[in-house]
Formats: sequence, C-alpha cells, structure tokens
Amino acid sequence: MRLLVTGGAGFIGANYIRYVLSAHPEHHIINLDKITYSGNLENLKDIEEHPNYTFIRADICDRKSLEGVEFDAIVNFAAESHVDRSILDASPFLQTNIIGTHNLLEIARQRDCIFLHVSTDEVYGSIEKGSFNEKSPLMPNSPYAASKASSDMLVRAYVETHNIRAMITRCSNNYGPYQFPEKLIPLVIINALNKKLIPVYGDGMNVREWIYVEDHCKAINTVLHKGTHGEIYNIGSGDEQANIDLVKLLLVKIAERLGLKENGLARLINFVKDRQGHDRRYAIDSSKIEQQLGWKSEVRFDEGISRTVDWYISNKQWWQRIMSGEYIQYYNVQYAERLNK
Ligand code: NAD
Ligand code: DAU
Repeated sequence: MRLLVTGGAGFIGANYIRYVLSAHPEHHIINLDKITYSGNLENLKDIEEHPNYTFIRADICDRKSLEGVEFDAIVNFAAESHVDRSILDASPFLQTNIIGTHNLLEIARQRDCIFLHVSTDEVYGSIEKGSFNEKSPLMPNSPYAASKASSDMLVRAYVETHNIRAMITRCSNNYGPYQFPEKLIPLVIINALNKKLIPVYGDGMNVREWIYVEDHCKAINTVLHKGTHGEIYNIGSGDEQANIDLVKLLLVKIAERLGLKENGLARLINFVKDRQGHDRRYAIDSSKIEQQLGWKSEVRFDEGISRTVDWYISNKQWWQRIMSGEYIQYYNVQYAERLNK
C-alpha cells in the first residue's frame, strides 16, 4: 500500500511513520509536511534514507503539490495542534485544519482513495462525569477544537454526499518521544531539567486522559486496515490524571532518574493564570474500537511516563535545538505574563 502521510514530521506523525516502516515492510510512505514551527525533520533522521520512505515539503492547502504523486490512502495528521496558540491567533488553525482538510478530501474524492482523518477528543468538549462515545454531540470550546470539529464535519459531509471511503479517529491526549516542548509533559520535563518554574494553569485540577503515542499509532493502523468506511472511532487509554498529580509524578520520576531529592523539584511548581475556556475534563469511551476492531491500549501510564522521562533525559540535544530557535520567543511571551500573575 502507498500511504500519503500528511504532517509526518510532527510528534504523532513521526512516531506513526517509524511504526509503519517497522511493522509493515510492504507499505511505502510519502510524508507531506509544510515544516511549520512544530514540524521537525530531525524526528525522522534515522529513516530518511529508508527505501520505502519519501519526503515532500508542501502545504496541504496547495493541491498542485500532489500532482503526479500516486498513493492508495491518505492519513491526515497535518494540523495546527496547540490550544494556547489558537487562543492567541486562530487564523492558521482555520486555514490548515479546515481548508487544508477540505483540499485533501477533494483529492480523495477525485482519486477514490481511502482517507483517514486523525481527529481529537477535544471536539466533544468537556465532561464532568462519564465519557463521550462516538455519537456524543460536538461541543468544541477552543478555536483549535472548533477547527478540528469543522474538519470532522467536512469528512462526514464528503462521505454522505460523495460516498468517499473515509474514517475519523478521535484520540485523547498523547505523550511520548518527539512531542514539541510547548505541550504539558515535555514542558514539565524540560523546565525541571533546566530548574525553571513549571506553570500549572488554574487550580491544576483539570483532567486529561493520557495515551502513549505508540498505542495511538497502532490504533490508527488498525482503523486503516480493519475499520469500516464512514465510521468514527474513539481512541483512549482510560488513564485519567489531574494535571497537578501528573506534574508531581513527573517530578518524582525525574528526581529518581537524576538521583535528586524530590522536594527540590517540587518547589518549581507555580500555579498561574488559567487558560481561557479551559476544558475541565476529557474522557472518552473506546469500547467501539476495542470490541469491533480488537485494538486496546497496551502501555500503562506509569510505564509510558518512565519511558518518556528517559527519552527527554537521553535526547537533550533534540530539545535544546528547539529551545534555542524561534519557539523560545513564543515561550517567553506566553509565560512572562502567566508567571507574573
Ligand atoms: P504537531 O503540531 O506536533 O505536528 C503537526 C505537523 O503538521 C507538523 O509536522 C507540521 O509541520 C505539519 N503541518 C502543519 N500545518 C501544515 C500544512 N498546512 N501542511 C502540511 N503540514 C502541516 O501535532 P501532533 O501533536 O503530532 O498532532 C497531529 C494530529 O493529531 C493533529 O491533527 C492533532 O489534531 C491530532 N491529535 C493530537 C493529539 C495530541 O495529544 N497531540 C491527540 C489527538 C489528536
Ligand atoms: O485531547 C487531545 C488534545 O490534547 C489534542 O487534540 C491537542 O492537539 C493536544 O495539544 C492536547 O491538548 P491539551 O490542551 O489538552 O494539551 P496541553 O499539553 O496543551 O495541556 C494539557 C493540560 O495541561 C491542559 O489542561 C492545560 C494544562 N497546562 C498546559 C500547559 C502547556 C498547564 O497547566 N500548563 C502548561 O504550561
């Protein structure tokens, strides 16, 4: 199978490409990525010469870039993905997440290829008790979530109207190697290693359901090969954590790994101004993919967190390069106000 993977130089896309190349030697991957601030070809350095891998630098909004490129399926990871950035400026989110997805849907329609759209649990909004299933209404609360919900609606419309062979996956919060340092888990690890304050939004009691990235990649692969066209599949682990508990656990793991006293690192925790429109809790019901397609998350939270802490400690060069680039300006502006609340 020839797979067009969009956004393959980002966190989940890079993990997915690496997983597919090792698990499916019969697949050829074409990675199309614009290389925005979060796209990083270093994430794929070890496989860039792989005979089953090709890279194209292009924007999913530019249909011409795919002329003459042949593939059987599209797996669409390309997106603006960070909620805080969507609060500062929603425009690139509408452009890439909505217009870009529409562009790919048109290509899928014209070429009659499979289209797997990688979406998020954030489209359902926040839930106090219980969990969302695939029939729950969409109630996005951030511009990011609204742009992803819009793209999901477009996928649905193309299935209903044009009968394209599309599927949607909606996964909970991912963590693991190569996650961009703006997201909570790498941010906590890197700040702790640099002895910098760790900004915890609001009261720290917002809850997220955390899944190890490799489990998400395996779930996407399962849906690609076994899923029913036109269907939506939630993907989660059931591992819920309040942010403050997660931060404390990370600090314990880091302290253990560095042979430090935990208390020293705990002093870095800094409660800061809350995120606007901050969803209180995400939780999804993954029983459909488990019962119908036989997928289940494998990496338990404690194990995944240990692996992730080890990865960031062993790959300082990877994040130090990012921290010395344009990202640090965003970080300083974003957190100056929060840390001085
Ligand atoms: P990321 O920000 O790390 O990576 C996004 C990638 O998309 C980057 O390589 C970037 O260069 C590329 N990109 C952005 N705009 C593009 C464009 N116009 N054309 C081509 N490439 C473009 O994001 P991620 O965390 O890896 O998320 C990947 C996908 O998974 C997103 O669609 C996101 O909504 C979804 N998702 C993420 C999570 C999570 O916890 N991170 C959970 C569920 C779903
Ligand atoms: O649920 C899936 C979503 O998970 C994906 O669709 C998004 O692409 C991904 O970014 C992620 O969104 P979140 O907003 O949940 O992730 P983030 O890592 O930004 O924040 C996780 C929680 O931690 C959230 O409650 C906000 C809080 N937080 C975040 C940062 C960056 C802090 O308390 N401090 C921080 O500095």
